[in-house]
Amino acid sequence: MEEYKINEERLWNSLMDLAQIGALPEKQGVTRLSLSEADLEGRKFLIQLMKDCGLHVRIDKVGNIIGKLEGCDNQAPIVMTGSHIDTVYEGGKFDGTLGVLGALEAVRTIKEKEIRLTHSIEVVSFTDEEGTRFGTGYIGSKGMVGKLDESYFRLQDDLGTSYEEAFLQANLNPSEFEKARKQRGQIKAFIEMHIEQGKVLEDHDVPIGIVTNIQGPIWLEVAIQGSADHAGATPMNIRNDASLAMAEIMLQVESIAKEFDGVGTVGKLKVEPGGVNIIPGKAVFTIDLRHGDIVIRSKMVEKMYEAVEVACRKRGAKATIEVKKDVAPAKCSDELIKVLVKSCSEAKVVPYKLPCGAGHDSLLLSEITDIAMIFVRSKHGISHNPKEWSSKEDCAKGTQVLLQTLLHLAK
Ligand code: HGY
Ligand code: MN
Ligand code: MN
Repeated sequence: MEEYKINEERLWNSLMDLAQIGALPEKQGVTRLSLSEADLEGRKFLIQLMKDCGLHVRIDKVGNIIGKLEGCDNQAPIVMTGSHIDTVYEGGKFDGTLGVLGALEAVRTIKEKEIRLTHSIEVVSFTDEEGTRFGTGYIGSKGMVGKLDESYFRLQDDLGTSYEEAFLQANLNPSEFEKARKQRGQIKAFIEMHIEQGKVLEDHDVPIGIVTNIQGPIWLEVAIQGSADHAGATPMNIRNDASLAMAEIMLQVESIAKEFDGVGTVGKLKVEPGGVNIIPGKAVFTIDLRHGDIVIRSKMVEKMYEAVEVACRKRGAKATIEVKKDVAPAKCSDELIKVLVKSCSEAKVVPYKLPCGAGHDSLLLSEITDIAMIFVRSKHGISHNPKEWSSKEDCAKGTQVLLQTLLHLAK
């Protein structure tokens, strides 16, 4: 039976308030790309909310926003929880934000009820989880676990702004990113609450899930160089049409993903020069491949490289492939899963275990501490879409489970 109840209304209001920031009236959904104007406004909103909760707030050297509730033993390792508030283009109201604002609501409840903690609790909003603007992502969590290097700051967005410039515009000092690194032993556990972004919980008619393991994403950027030519005067048999090589490779992404029971997506693509009557000389596109088993995922990547080679040879084109993101799958801690099961029964919620298809900052935190994830049911499994939705009750249930878990770990 839960002793302390989170404030469902307050949680819901904070979610809806944050969803207003980056909501473009002429478009659907919420767009707060990493370190954009909208994201900086969202960050300001969160910092103020953390201060209103009475937390000690700091921004680390990769821009992670960290709100701390002090425990009695400042030598004890931190119990960390959180997620991200940056979004994809025209995203939803709950992806990432539920994990940050739910954590804030849980910690606020602990503070209000003056519950004595041994371990301090830190609520973290990680910088650029999504990678939508600069094409890679997990910047904040990579910085915290020491997987960032200066090459990331040379990446540019579609308008040519570099990460370094974006950091400086956000009053962050990119040259000091290494100071954000934490070592194994400093964090007792990292618990991330997140919407499921899939249909499993809904299909099983349960509101809350306990994640067993997380698929790891690898992102490739493929640039195909054919030759631009006249659409009218160039016979079909002598063309080096980059877009057709891309088209064949895209279909291979689908068949390789199906062959290995993983997932594969081409989410971003463009052809150049891009005229109606010009045979595309160049095609640039991204490939997102994922699998829960790193060995199988490498086989998928190997077959992908072969497919690019075959398609280009057939069309007299050349390709370069750049790895833009490569994060290994991760297992959640069995010990923490037991704590989550206990927290579910205290919160009178059926504990339902399931694997996680999407990527999360937890993947990176698994490098330096034990991780666990609480899933909250997504309506029709929709996400990265304005229709993304989780009910007020389910968000509250997930946050209550999170509160119980934090109490078990930090008291
Ligand atoms: O790509 C993902 O899985 C996450 O939404 N960043
Ligand atoms: Mn996302
Ligand atoms: Mn997310």
